[in-house]
Amino acid sequence: MSDETLSNLLKEERRFEPPAQIAAAANLTAEAYDRAAADPQAFWAEQAERLDWDRRWDRVLDWDDAPFAKWFVGGRLNAAYNCVDRHVAAGRGDKVALHWVGEPLDDTRDITYAELQDEVCRAANALTDLGVRTGDRVAIYLPMIPEAVVAMLACARIGAPHTVVFGGFSADALASRLEDCQAKVVVTSDGGYRRGSASALKPAVDDARAKTAAGGHPVEKVLVVRRTGQEVAWDDAVDVWWHDAVGGASTEHTPESFDAEHPLYVMYTSGTTGKPKGILHTTGGYLVGSSYTHWAVFDLKPDTDVYWCSADIGWVTGHSYVVYGPLANGATQVMYEGTPDSPERGRWWQIIQDYKVSIFYTAPTAIRSFMKQGREIPDGFDMSSLRILGSVGEPINPEAYIWYRHVIGGDRTPVIDTWWQTETGAIMISPLPGVTAGKPGSAMTAIPGVSSEVVNDEGEPVPNGSGGYLVLTSPWPAMLRTIWGDDQRYKDTYWSRFAKQGYYFAGDGAKKDEDGDIWVLGRVDDVMNVSGHRLSTTEIESALVSHPKVAEAAVVGAKDEDTGQAVCAFVILREDAGDGGDDIVAELRQHVRKEIGPIATPRQIMIVPELPKTRSGKIMRRLLRDVAERREVGDVTTLADSSVMDLISAKQDEGRTEE
Ligand code: PRX
Repeated sequence: MSDETLSNLLKEERRFEPPAQIAAAANLTAEAYDRAAADPQAFWAEQAERLDWDRRWDRVLDWDDAPFAKWFVGGRLNAAYNCVDRHVAAGRGDKVALHWVGEPLDDTRDITYAELQDEVCRAANALTDLGVRTGDRVAIYLPMIPEAVVAMLACARIGAPHTVVFGGFSADALASRLEDCQAKVVVTSDGGYRRGSASALKPAVDDARAKTAAGGHPVEKVLVVRRTGQEVAWDDAVDVWWHDAVGGASTEHTPESFDAEHPLYVMYTSGTTGKPKGILHTTGGYLVGSSYTHWAVFDLKPDTDVYWCSADIGWVTGHSYVVYGPLANGATQVMYEGTPDSPERGRWWQIIQDYKVSIFYTAPTAIRSFMKQGREIPDGFDMSSLRILGSVGEPINPEAYIWYRHVIGGDRTPVIDTWWQTETGAIMISPLPGVTAGKPGSAMTAIPGVSSEVVNDEGEPVPNGSGGYLVLTSPWPAMLRTIWGDDQRYKDTYWSRFAKQGYYFAGDGAKKDEDGDIWVLGRVDDVMNVSGHRLSTTEIESALVSHPKVAEAAVVGAKDEDTGQAVCAFVILREDAGDGGDDIVAELRQHVRKEIGPIATPRQIMIVPELPKTRSGKIMRRLLRDVAERREVGDVTTLADSSVMDLISAKQDEGRTEE
């Protein structure tokens, strides 16, 4: 990577010291870094003590067959017992586990740990009655309702790996996942509520089931939660109502203990090829990683905090930081079914006010959409309960960081930018709220127990002030174990790039600043090369978003005859900026020039009403690249709203661009 370009990056001088109150009572303090570095395995063994093991491990790590790791070798435990029963056994059965909030107003349920235990036991018995055995795969295709959590834990309880498929995925996407992991049972619902109306889920399962039958791996049973009361097609040989099967089952269920390396779940994520990768996580190491990080990074005080992570359980964030991490830690949390703007725009802030949420974890894309709406909306709510704010999923641009901290956190709250991946299972790089002086836009350093580096093409660490590839240099307990059914792809994708050093290659570019702190630049495939200079899409987006008229921006590198690649920007204006004025494009180009330098000036800026995003909120740059390069727009099936591309193409036809 060219140092010259990277050295232009993010000149951010602001620092936010940890609040004295948080520092004074922090779960993890500065000494943990050295202690963990001195003896990582001893440190991880200490973290494993937070779980209840039926049999203690003989060996912390077996890395003899690298990159195939075994953690807590010989240990046995039950993940569901650790997330539920042990809290009840310890006398905390009356503590609320979930403050569930449905999208329709006043549709709420508070579920205590004792109630959760009953539900999980019933569901475990019901799944067993449906023929699910240890090792069988169960797919879960549900909205954000308590039954989703119950179903996941019931699977874990009987040792049946689950694969949760995001409820917004199409029947085809569901079918390919069902087929890849050969799911025996699907848990779904008639539908769920989104944006004020009931949307159906069951028809997609029916479709997907027909497709898998043709593929030779038929789904045997479909367990259906009644959520909306919609009409559903019914096949008596296959379909079973949740309220019959689970409702009628016994609350007595003895959890069996499983090997620490027993598969816990498969989570599909997109790779560089068209075929999604089934990321396999196993029981012991994953639970150690997710519970330790949830406790350390969010400084969780389970007796007093009310925690809320806005992620859907269809993504890894929902797995690690809605289900396994918080529940293993006995936290009380909010779970919300719907969209942030239903029935009105302040819904999230209303929930924070109502439940006195103290730790809130969301994504920069959400923060930017709230910025676009203006601060009047959150200003109408009392959010003084908040003490820690988290961010995940993409680099948080300094503007969004400052807005989040200031408008949502009232300048009291550290903003914890957490870098990790589906593959890492748990947070890897992040500030610690009681220790780290935060820098807006930086994920800072690897947390205690984790070791990261930024390296050049040869795998050598780059000096401070330079950029390169982000790698993890040692194995960690929550690491993926393989790609389901494809050990070779696992090796090739993650371990071949720096095989000599034995590093895990994350696929991200990053910069170490003068202090050695890490600024994640995004996927290396999103890094552009303009006239031999490397530029990060994120950096230019950040510059654009810092313009007062800009709400959101996406930047792609489009092929250019002269410069190799050229910067193309797609910009959404803030509502109060109207159409931005006649000179808006020139104004923004000038702004980027000023913020970063002439090399970063977009060749083309398109003012658009929306950006194409996946249902998890990631901007689909691939599609924007198609528009920028005037190709026919590619596959839009994973877009949250595929009409967005029509809007963008229409804008292009109107000629609202400048070249
Ligand atoms: O590029 C990084 C980005 O998201 C990727 C992982 O995506 P996924 O597996 O879907 O997991 C998302 C939730 C953990 C990473 O390779 N990413 C995630 N968090 C950050 C980030 N980029 C910058 N800063 C982050 N905090």
